[in-house]
Amino acid sequence: MSNSQKPRVFVSRTVFQDVIARLSEEAEVDVWPEPLPPSYEELCRRARGCAGLFTLVTDRVDAGLMDAAPTLKVVGQMAVGFDNIDVAAATERGIAVGNTPDVLSGTTADFAFALLMAGARRIVEGNRYVHEGRWQTWEPMGFMGQDIHGATLGIIGLGRIGREMAKRASGFDMKVLYHGGSPSEGCADAEEARSLDDLLERSDFVTVHAPLTDATHHMLGEAQFRRMKSTAVLINTARGPIVDQEALYHALSDGEIAHAALDVTDPEPIKMDDPLLTLDNVTIVPHIASASTAARRRMAEMTVDNILAGLRGEPLPTGVNNRELASV
Ligand code: GLV
Repeated sequence: MSNSQKPRVFVSRTVFQDVIARLSEEAEVDVWPEPLPPSYEELCRRARGCAGLFTLVTDRVDAGLMDAAPTLKVVGQMAVGFDNIDVAAATERGIAVGNTPDVLSGTTADFAFALLMAGARRIVEGNRYVHEGRWQTWEPMGFMGQDIHGATLGIIGLGRIGREMAKRASGFDMKVLYHGGSPSEGCADAEEARSLDDLLERSDFVTVHAPLTDATHHMLGEAQFRRMKSTAVLINTARGPIVDQEALYHALSDGEIAHAALDVTDPEPIKMDDPLLTLDNVTIVPHIASASTAARRRMAEMTVDNILAGLRGEPLPTGVNNRELASV
């Protein structure tokens, strides 16, 4: 097919070239070349005339953008979460939306567990201490943290990633409580908490694996932190706005909880004057839980598969609105 006959696809950041090459066989591909994402206005400009968009969590894909790109047939999001996309607006316009479930679940749980361990045993604080030249002796009362083995892990959202987290916890002889979701093979011992408050009160570690929705926005705030143990560690690899960040700052600085280990913040990137950054008992990394080479490659491949299917008018292999589109 010559370029002029091919449908146009905008890819909002540079990803694996060989994976994008597969897209180029069937589409005229425009890749955003900058290291930082396109602005919303630029995204709308580039989307105009496109049949497909390859998007990331940093791209706002709303009704305004869809109206600016009336030829759009498919949005392939290279992420499992898609709260940056107005799926209802897409469905109304007959636009298919795909995401990348499953291929990053183990990778993200590995990382969430690494954050749990870093928070429990104060690994990042210790590393900073050594780098700053403050290590003078073996300190009998220094850097004491929490035991992980035998502790209770509270999982908010026992879905694909939450269940992987539960499996890892069993290797550490942890008791697993959950709120939301359901256990399956590999985590059948997980106990459903009576309520979110019950989970917060009983857990030594609380890890968030829920999607960001109206119902989960600021699900953890002042009242919830007050329920938690003063030795508790909060781990968030889901979405920043699930946690009320100002309330978290107060909970950490007032000693209501011991540590927060965050892969996600609100906003992203976190503002450099955010008071959380003044605290030692917080570990923050730049939204990298799925960033193993293998997982990111699988995510890019899946996104291309979704876009190619959408361009052909076929149901997406991992579409989030397949059922709704089929019933229109
Ligand atoms: C990353 O945050 C994802 O949703 O995959």
